[in-house]
Amino acid sequence: MGFIFNNLLRRKSVSAISDAESHESGLHRVLTVRDLTFFGIAAIIGAGSFSSIGSACFSGGPAVIFLFVICAIACGFTAMCYADFATRVPASGSAYTYAYVSFGELAAWIIGWALLMEYSIGNIYVAFSWSGYFVNLLEGFGLHMPLWLTNNYSDSHQAFLDGAAGKLSNAWNAAPVVLGVKFIIDLPAIMINILVTWLVYVGTKESRNASNIMVIIKLAIILLVIIVGASYVDIDNWTPFMPNQFSGVMAGVSGVFFAYIGFDAVSTLAEESKNPQRDLPRGMIYSLIICTVVFIILALVLTGMVSYTALNVSDPLAEVFALKGIKWMLFIVSIAAVVAMTSVILVFQMGQPRIWMAMSRDGLLPKKFAEIHPKYKTPAFSTLITGLVVGIPIFFTTPKFVLDFTSIGTLFAFVLVCGGVLILPRNMEAREKGKFKMPYVSSKFIVPVVTVVGFILIGFYYPNSIYANDANDIYNYPMIIFYLVWILIAIFSFIKSYSLIPVLGLLSCCYLLTGMGWTNWMMFSVWLVIGLVVYLMYGYRKSKLNTA
Ligand code: ALA
Repeated sequence: MGFIFNNLLRRKSVSAISDAESHESGLHRVLTVRDLTFFGIAAIIGAGSFSSIGSACFSGGPAVIFLFVICAIACGFTAMCYADFATRVPASGSAYTYAYVSFGELAAWIIGWALLMEYSIGNIYVAFSWSGYFVNLLEGFGLHMPLWLTNNYSDSHQAFLDGAAGKLSNAWNAAPVVLGVKFIIDLPAIMINILVTWLVYVGTKESRNASNIMVIIKLAIILLVIIVGASYVDIDNWTPFMPNQFSGVMAGVSGVFFAYIGFDAVSTLAEESKNPQRDLPRGMIYSLIICTVVFIILALVLTGMVSYTALNVSDPLAEVFALKGIKWMLFIVSIAAVVAMTSVILVFQMGQPRIWMAMSRDGLLPKKFAEIHPKYKTPAFSTLITGLVVGIPIFFTTPKFVLDFTSIGTLFAFVLVCGGVLILPRNMEAREKGKFKMPYVSSKFIVPVVTVVGFILIGFYYPNSIYANDANDIYNYPMIIFYLVWILIAIFSFIKSYSLIPVLGLLSCCYLLTGMGWTNWMMFSVWLVIGLVVYLMYGYRKSKLNTA
């Protein structure tokens, strides 16, 4: 029993990874710091900024900007941790590889499994949102696709059962019946997945060029949206600023956090960057800073142009201009959305195969997953499987489901990355010119003091936070667990003098997890259990570290 337990905790050494893998992978080293920053922005600004921001503004009102700030802080600290890891472990695999050297094999597998939710499942949400704006764009040209070819089956069925009027139930009613089943598919979502899979398959350089052009277009158009939108802002719309209290703000956490996901994808490109130790951290942090500024201004403009109550739609950026009667902007916004989301899908579709490649090299997945295409120099088999993993669920799942699932899985991975930095010995190497080194500030006294002050303030101003509803009869278990974790972290910070940045990253990501509902937790647990079974049946035995 003890032997099995030790095996689950077996770790890879940092030097083994850096020496053996980063130099001999066969991938092309073509990416510079500018490319990586662009990749970061390409991965970040997408469906979150064009779709899920709408429902977050609706539930939180203009005060949703606080949530953007909280998420930016959580992601900023986490980016520093990613950067720290990426400097020490310059190999593909992102958080998966980092967990392997800090927590050991089982945690690494779990992270790899959770990252599947970020990259592949996240891409399903983006593909759905892409489809919505693509259909808007076609309609701008006077082209109309049948509703049963542009909506998803589950939502249409549900709308029909609920007797709801609108395009979803119209799609259900108009759909042809094939073999006794209503034929409803989101064809544009499927097509964009096929197109991107092909692009990623044929090469990193080609993908990079496409991605850089798309980033320039989307930033330019978002700037235009902000400038035009700002002239329609009516400051009366910012009152009330927080219409649904802070719980309303937190209700948007899945959508807002989703908007930030992507900066970490940069770390999967370690083996394709020219100088990963210097450039990966910079690329991540630069892209995060740029996007945070864009999001906050965008949220203020949206909630200033119209009442927050009008924003609960899947295409809020188009909606605000439609409500203001500015037709030409509708067209421009749709182009920007389609371009922005294509680049997100592209980067995520590049990230997933590279994680699988790393897992396969370690023996946790079959060898085929690490196969590099002789001509294109890309992980060809993994790329194709990613296309299938994204494409098949488009037939039966819904955007809301995949959004929540992605956010909880990614936050979980972030928690482990921040925790992993705490577990590794501090990065003591002398600072080499241009290399990232996490600044060390001791949390020994700061965190315990902040904890005591924090709990006193919560006791005074927010005593009901442990309850899930106003009647004070149902406990808010995620919040209670968060408080316990907070106290534990404060105690350990005092005892071990942990580095402050990862501690704050850990705390802020754990806090964001409290915004996830019970159903999400249940689904996530089931997902982890399935992952565990797969690991025990395959990876545990086939692992390269299996010396038994
Ligand atoms: N942040 C990415 C998006 O919003 C995932 O599409």
